[in-house]
Amino acid sequence: MHRNLLILGGSGKTGIKVVQQSLGRGHTVTAYARNATRLKEVIECEISALRERLSPILSQFEAIISVLGPNSLSYTGTEIAQLYEWMLAELRQLHIQQRPYLLLTSTQSIVNPEDGFDLFTKLHIFFIMTIAPGARRETMAIKDVFMREIKSQKTDVEWTVCRLNLLKDSGLPLEGGKAGYVGKNGWISTIDRAQLAFWLIREAEKEPTERKWVGKMPALWGDSVV
Ligand SMILES: NC(=O)c1ccc[n+]([C@@H]2O[C@H](COP(=O)([O-])OP(=O)(O)OC[C@H]3O[C@@H](n4cnc5c(N)ncnc54)[C@H](OP(=O)(O)O)[C@@H]3O)[C@@H](O)[C@H]2O)c1
Repeated sequence: MHRNLLILGGSGKTGIKVVQQSLGRGHTVTAYARNATRLKEVIECEISALRERLSPILSQFEAIISVLGPNSLSYTGTEIAQLYEWMLAELRQLHIQQRPYLLLTSTQSIVNPEDGFDLFTKLHIFFIMTIAPGARRETMAIKDVFMREIKSQKTDVEWTVCRLNLLKDSGLPLEGGKAGYVGKNGWISTIDRAQLAFWLIREAEKEPTERKWVGKMPALWGDSVV
């Protein structure tokens, strides 16, 4: 089950773990980062130049794992959402057998109609909206891109938007990642970055018939630290 993986955000805190675990599991990895000093096999450029770099090689990958996300309170712009919009269109240009599975992470500021009520999550969303309006704008732009996909009922590109709440680095066993909806089936608000990386890679390793979350926006969570 070797996979040729493209990992976007490879220099970020989760991205480094996705790259390391993927290599450890024998996959071929190409990573994208703005600043590649911490990586070996990389595409290093500003996000605005990425389309040109990716366009000729997208068909080489079986899966794209993107852990890009706004990472400062002063973040502005919707470049990540625009990249995904471009990528969906670009993937549609490829032969159906050559279209990689796009797995990406965002936040639980994207509310899913299947979510249950959780007061902490509501307060957290409000808090982020207040202190990081630019990050919120990017997240809502990502939501819009994939809501348009859902509304159009297109199923010709396989994607999953993984919604996260709080990320931690607690050194938990890799296998604890779970998917579902906020406030349901044992959901908790946290996931360990190593468990997140492992969950994403395991999804990317699945055969198309085994992929349960295609075209959906599940919440992910992990083991609680006791
Ligand atoms: N941290 C949390 O508690 C939390 C909560 C909910 C959801 N999430 C989501 O979880 C994922 C991973 O989070 P993390 O905290 O592990 O990641 P992180 O360390 O914040 O890394 C984010 C990555 O995105 C890149 N990036 C951000 N904006 C970019 C832009 N405009 N152009 C190019 N690259 C850009 C960063 O590049 P640079 O290294 O060059 O800045 C970095 O590689 C993200 O999708 C995030 O939205 C995180």
